[in-house]
Amino acid sequence: MVLPVRLRCDQTPAWRGLQAHFNSARVNLRDAFGADAQRFTRFSQAAPHVFADLSKNLIDPAGEALLLALAQQCDVAGHRDAMFAGASVNTTEQRAAMHFLLRAPADAVVPAAQQAELQAVHATLDAFLAFAEQVRADDAITDVVNIGIGGSDLGPHMAVRALEAFALPGKRFHFVSNLDAEELLAVLRKVQPAHTLFLVASKSFTTLETMGNARVAKAWFEAGGGRNVARHFVGLTSQPALAQAFGIHTTFDFADWVGGRYSLWSAIGLSLAVAIGASAFRDMLAGAHAMDRHFREAPLAQNLPVRLALLDVWYRNFHQCGSRSMAPYSSSLRRLPAYLQQLEMESNGKGVALDGTPLAYATSPVVWGQAGTNGQHAYFQMLHQGSDVVPVEFIAVREASHALPEHHRQLLANALAQAQALMMGHASEDGHRHFSGNRPSTFLLLDALTPASLGALLALYEHRVFVAGSLWGINSFDQFGVELGKQLANDIAPRLHNGDVRGLDGSTAGLLRHLKAKTS
Ligand code: F6P
Repeated sequence: MVLPVRLRCDQTPAWRGLQAHFNSARVNLRDAFGADAQRFTRFSQAAPHVFADLSKNLIDPAGEALLLALAQQCDVAGHRDAMFAGASVNTTEQRAAMHFLLRAPADAVVPAAQQAELQAVHATLDAFLAFAEQVRADDAITDVVNIGIGGSDLGPHMAVRALEAFALPGKRFHFVSNLDAEELLAVLRKVQPAHTLFLVASKSFTTLETMGNARVAKAWFEAGGGRNVARHFVGLTSQPALAQAFGIHTTFDFADWVGGRYSLWSAIGLSLAVAIGASAFRDMLAGAHAMDRHFREAPLAQNLPVRLALLDVWYRNFHQCGSRSMAPYSSSLRRLPAYLQQLEMESNGKGVALDGTPLAYATSPVVWGQAGTNGQHAYFQMLHQGSDVVPVEFIAVREASHALPEHHRQLLANALAQAQALMMGHASEDGHRHFSGNRPSTFLLLDALTPASLGALLALYEHRVFVAGSLWGINSFDQFGVELGKQLANDIAPRLHNGDVRGLDGSTAGLLRHLKAKTS
């Protein structure tokens, strides 16, 4: 299928209209609520498992109409439909991006070209979920160690922590990603070969960190008397032959069209499946699928991923906001910001259009944050009174997963109060105590943090990132920016031995000399 030819965002009439609108009138949130009794309703959006209050954003109906016109003029819907039809939306690598297929039900109606893929997805899903149930029933396995990095770590790690309330008691889950051996060694000190299952998670099965850690883990296992590698090591990869060459014979694979940062739904999610079980894992897929349907079917004006992405463009390209702070008011979601950093910045941190020409406008903001209320005691000072306006995204959960209602009431009160304080501000004649207010935020609310609602939330973010990338006219599915440093590290590593600094820039050569001087 051929991708539709689409206008570049900055060449549309809507873009010019947005610039004029931005120049002519700034939204004052307090006044906007005073002038429009319907503002909350107008700027809120229900989607599967997620309710979004967008009303505290610096947007008015005319601005949102222009943003929707931008989505139309950039043919976001055509691009979205092309992705779901299996077109090669990853244009630089000539690959489809069909992560949505990983959560489609087995009887979903899909284009003929996707039928075999869907069958393969379900065959692997059934197999790795059956394996997960086997591990859950095996009391001898007390520890599961996922060795992987990037998308082969961030998704499962975040989700296992998010869904701890649903996890099987009696098994511990560890995640080893860093090249710094401290991380692996700290885990190995806690586990025993006979009671540990290692999941070597790597799409490519060549990643330096993962291969290095997996090699050491296997040697440790064998040195500790472990014999049955087939029982204690599993490969999760799209390159099963490489896993076998490595000496791992139990593998669950997935297709090349599953991007690393979109792979939680595939066999890469095995650690999560062991933690929460097959049925809950399927619930997570169902939640994500419900969001896929919302994204495909809801009109643009009521489409939550679209509305969020349009606000992202509004802040990035018109307000010139360089960052967005993520504030999940849920300790369980504490790893969500790290997960979103890869999803958003690896996807949309690009500087060229699809044809490789430089862009004249900014793309991905810096995405950062941590769980509330901790963030309040660290950097919220800057959010309230700092020199930069940073849009904040609150994520709150109506029902707690524990039985301490007073804690939860306070947690929710703090989330609401921070959003309120950012918007309302507080006038004081003492400049130090003055809060200007009018600082924007989005408030996402889940009824409860469950496998289904987590699935829906993550799919929401995937699609929002897709829409922003689509508006910017970039390829959200490649990541060449991570390659150069990796190549240079291969050149530098032997120099740390032999001290050869020939051909290096002055700073790297100076640092190498310094390192050698200190170590010799
Ligand atoms: O950081 C680059 C990257 O390629 C990510 O896109 C990917 O998630 C990660 O490395 C790990 O890759 P792999 O799963 O192939 O080990």
